[in-house]
Amino acid sequence: MAASGDSVLVVGGGQAAAQLVVSLRLGGHEGRITLVGDEDEPPYQRPPLSKQYLAGELGRERLLLRKAAYYESRDVELRLGRRVLSIDRAGHCAVLDGGEQLGYDRLVLATGSILRRLDVPGADLPGIHYLRSLADADRLQEELGAGRRVVVVGGGYIGLEVAATAAKAGADVAVLEAEERVMSRVLSAPLAEWLTDLHRQSGVHVRVGEQVRGFTGQERVEAVETGNGPLPADAVLVGIGVLPAADLARECGLGENDGILTDEYCRTEDESVLAAGDCARTINTALGAAVRLESVQNAVDHGQVAASVILGDPRPYSSIPWFWSDQFHVKLQIAGLARPEDETVLRGDPSAGAFAAFRLREGRLTAVEAVSSPRDFMMGKKLIAARAAPDPARLMDESVALTDLIQSRHGIPTLHGPDP
Ligand code: APR
Repeated sequence: MAASGDSVLVVGGGQAAAQLVVSLRLGGHEGRITLVGDEDEPPYQRPPLSKQYLAGELGRERLLLRKAAYYESRDVELRLGRRVLSIDRAGHCAVLDGGEQLGYDRLVLATGSILRRLDVPGADLPGIHYLRSLADADRLQEELGAGRRVVVVGGGYIGLEVAATAAKAGADVAVLEAEERVMSRVLSAPLAEWLTDLHRQSGVHVRVGEQVRGFTGQERVEAVETGNGPLPADAVLVGIGVLPAADLARECGLGENDGILTDEYCRTEDESVLAAGDCARTINTALGAAVRLESVQNAVDHGQVAASVILGDPRPYSSIPWFWSDQFHVKLQIAGLARPEDETVLRGDPSAGAFAAFRLREGRLTAVEAVSSPRDFMMGKKLIAARAAPDPARLMDESVALTDLIQSRHGIPTLHGPDP
């Protein structure tokens, strides 16, 4: 069968899955496409769930990546509210809940992430929430409001974004972070401290190095038990990270190690099976390493790469990762991947509210973390792609244009026009 006539089965209904089917049909794929997703909605954007959607500023229909009519008109069969329970790779077939079997020529695992859950006494009490799906956001939204005491466990992306949204809605918010600083997985210490100050100045009680021992309450949660005593709570949001949803892959014998293992074309060891998005650990040729990332950009890239393979015109996964977060009036943008031990060089004045931290390893730029400073973010991304090794003194000197820090092989600055 010609590649474009293959029948494609997509497991998962998130951003990577949506990108894949859109790219397939745009690329002229004529074979059958079936998408099985366990949520009830067609693929939607998740980032607003902790921000504009939670705040009631963005309607439900605006979250959808494509309206249901799109899939109908492109002959993409959506099986929503359904789960794939197992995969028979030898028989090229997947078994759904209810026992139905679906055959495939190409299987794409776009199963996303699953929430890490807090395993402490009282963790099942009503009023304790997690946030991953639209349904989660709807439940959480009912809990936020003026005067409500909201305790957020985890000071990562989800925790801080929900804290900001809840505080803006007038709730009395506390964040309990287990590590010594917030967002320690992704941010340098100066940025984390700056962000903590922003939250505190906005009325959020941020407590770091705080262990949650349990929850207490009669009918529903009333208090969070911490190492420093009980903290009253009308509602709790737990945002302590996610894990790749790799069970299906593991159970059918595919290689997996904190993510389903793939090459730079999203191909697993089985040539009929690809993996895309949060669930995949994929070789990124721009970084020269296999990475598992949780981001919209990564899901979109993987969707496009997997589609290119199925369309018979494979393009490798090769992009500098980037991430963003909105908290209060601040836009945080991160490009690249830093390790905690990487050096940090600040550019700009944190007290002015717009600045960036540049991260360096053995002289080379590994990441940029920009606070309301899109120019530093954009140029930082270019510098990382150029494998720049900028002089830290010039990097922190705002009178030196960042474009001047891209060195050619001969050490002569390569000018790509004025600093944007
Ligand atoms: N108590 C308190 N804090 C904890 C605990 C705990 N028991 N366990 C982990 N944490 C903290 C971590 O130290 C980290 O700061 O929770 C935070 C989790 O942050 P992230 O890893 O960013 O995860 P999360 O905020 O849940 O977001 C998950 O969703 O927004 C998307 O793609 C984004 O990758 C992100 C994902």
